[in-house]
Amino acid sequence: MPIRFDEAALTWHLAGPGLSYVVGLQGGLPRQLHWGPAIPDEAVASLAVEWREAYSWDDRLHTGAELLGELGPQFATPSLQLRHPDGAKGFAWNYADHSIEGDHLAIHFTDRTLALTLHYRLWDTGVLDRWASLEAAAPVEPDAAASVESTRFDGAPSVATRLDAAPLVELTRFDSAAWTLPHWDDYRLSHLSGEWAAEWQLRRVPLPVGETAIGSRRGGTSHQANPWVALDDGTATETAGTVYSTNLAWSGSWRVLLRRSAQGRVSITGGAGHEGLRWTLRDGETWTTPVASGLFTPGGFGGASRAWHEHLRRHVMPTPEEDAPVLFNSWEAVFFDVAEEKQLPLVSLAARIGCEQFVVDDGWFGARVTDHAGLGDWSPNPDRFPKGLGPLIDAVHATGMKFGIWVEPEMCNPDSDLYRAHPDWVLHQAGRDRTELRQQLVLDYGRPEVAAWAFAWLDELLSGNDIDYLKWDHNRPWTEVGRPGHADPDRAWFEHVEAVYALKERLRAEHPNVRIEGCAGGGGRVDPGMLRHVDQVWTSDNTDAGDRVAIQYGFSQAYPTRAMDTWITDEPSGFNRRTTSLRFRFQVASAGVLAVGGNLTEWTEAELEEAAEHVAHYKRLRPVVQHGVQHRLGDPEASPVTGVQYVRGDQIAVLAFKTPWHCNRPLAPLRPEGIASDSRWLDEDTGDLHWGATLNVLGLPLRWAGADWDSAILRLRRVE
Ligand code: DGJ
Repeated sequence: MPIRFDEAALTWHLAGPGLSYVVGLQGGLPRQLHWGPAIPDEAVASLAVEWREAYSWDDRLHTGAELLGELGPQFATPSLQLRHPDGAKGFAWNYADHSIEGDHLAIHFTDRTLALTLHYRLWDTGVLDRWASLEAAAPVEPDAAASVESTRFDGAPSVATRLDAAPLVELTRFDSAAWTLPHWDDYRLSHLSGEWAAEWQLRRVPLPVGETAIGSRRGGTSHQANPWVALDDGTATETAGTVYSTNLAWSGSWRVLLRRSAQGRVSITGGAGHEGLRWTLRDGETWTTPVASGLFTPGGFGGASRAWHEHLRRHVMPTPEEDAPVLFNSWEAVFFDVAEEKQLPLVSLAARIGCEQFVVDDGWFGARVTDHAGLGDWSPNPDRFPKGLGPLIDAVHATGMKFGIWVEPEMCNPDSDLYRAHPDWVLHQAGRDRTELRQQLVLDYGRPEVAAWAFAWLDELLSGNDIDYLKWDHNRPWTEVGRPGHADPDRAWFEHVEAVYALKERLRAEHPNVRIEGCAGGGGRVDPGMLRHVDQVWTSDNTDAGDRVAIQYGFSQAYPTRAMDTWITDEPSGFNRRTTSLRFRFQVASAGVLAVGGNLTEWTEAELEEAAEHVAHYKRLRPVVQHGVQHRLGDPEASPVTGVQYVRGDQIAVLAFKTPWHCNRPLAPLRPEGIASDSRWLDEDTGDLHWGATLNVLGLPLRWAGADWDSAILRLRRVE
């Protein structure tokens, strides 16, 4: 995307498809002068007026700041909080120069011993990536002999750093970017929150005056909040209206802060880490933040979601063009009762109903027969797999299915050989209890020996066995994070995440045919950072199809269907005891990457036959569902009948769901999106022909089977 620099006005204009982002130096400070519809280059210089004429000086200081600072009368919570060795705080912006390499703009500033760079990359999807880096450099040449190796935060080659040297700066906050919205009468915030087994609940609330913080202090992205947010003026709909939205590519703890001033200006600042962390930089070190991405779209909430989906598929996810296989997962079928002879019947039945990949979940290794022991001891349990994994893998491959296996490499049970040998390998603090959650502790991947151990056993597992797929779990939030004796113990919060990314990348490079599913006790670690390193993600441990309608609706706000694992499991649901038909469960799960997680050995012949039909039908839908453009039809909070429409070329698939409804509640027909009136559509299952006009006016001809908890799938092909 073109970047145009106006030397006289000191402005940089990033021009994208139908949009412009303009950053300029105003009073020496880097400011966002415009983010929105495309503007001509000639108009760029005039944009500074809005900032100069801001009504309140308080707003004038905060509006447009590319990173909210803390020098002088700047009272909003800063994006960048630092202290120099002499006690002075903040970064004074002295513009140095800029560089443009391809579509990457870097603007450089200096202050004392620090060099700060703001980075920008605008994509053809309309998504603007922003990040920042801070380099500390002593005014005199360092004594090279005293240098030791250290790891850079961004995972780049290590730099020579004196860890025993005096720090040049102490950081307590370093956000990736701050964003400013247009001046509107009102603001509404959309965000995703929830809890374990109830992730992805979409909340749409007025943004109050003051500061609204969302984030995670748990070490992972979290089930409770996701860094994706969207803002509109309260009038946007699913299909129309201006929506601004941001996300953060970071899978550790994080904070996004939205500030609405009394004068009605709104800015967002966000980045890695939570309040209260403190770390230092020494001579020669550079700290690079993760990428924060922003999106402006005039196409309503649906348009915003589609742009995020397209962006993540085209520029972030590793294998989006592949058809994700229909998989079977053993977890809900047998839980910890995993053994070769008990898996074999499931293998044949999974293959019989059409599954394409068989995944053995937790319980195959060490003394892991419950969640109390064995986590960390990654060799097959000899009682359960007397000849190792080979016979089961061969049996799976003999059916034509791929083989996948569950791992949780970042954790251990205290009751494990690993912990007994290396009690210091877990995150912990001197003199504090080590809180166990699910009877497990978190390994400290910031220690090179721990990351090396993890690579060694994973590499051996993948090299010694014909494994196609890893389900990579992370089942507990972190507590007592630290590394006794380390000069900068809070770095553990960042280093662990970077090391997990690096480990996944290294494994992918060494085993390019292996695919990885990201999981964290359900959907607790889903964000654009993790999506760069995994092929798909486990959405939620809650597999009740009724609850899944809303969970999948929320997930789709920010993340694409191709990433969303959806299982069909046994009924009644283990979460809410709800009973729904096999058809409903399959059809809800068919709106994502379909998987089967029920105990097939207890299914009747009729159920197995029906399941095989649903799986076969899904495979016909798959190209459109996994690779198509998604339109949400209705909001499950507002209407008992909703649907998801996928469009790819001349094909449309609509998956519609009916949740309980009551008399005197209108039940409007579900209408498709984006269908030309004069087009004609063939129903690929019935052979019926429909005018686009009829579908738009009367709604979709859905074939419901019953009343509540019902579903229907329609496959249409454009013939005229
Ligand atoms: C949590 C995951 O979300 C489940 O699917 C399962 O893999 C368990 N962990 C296993 O412990």
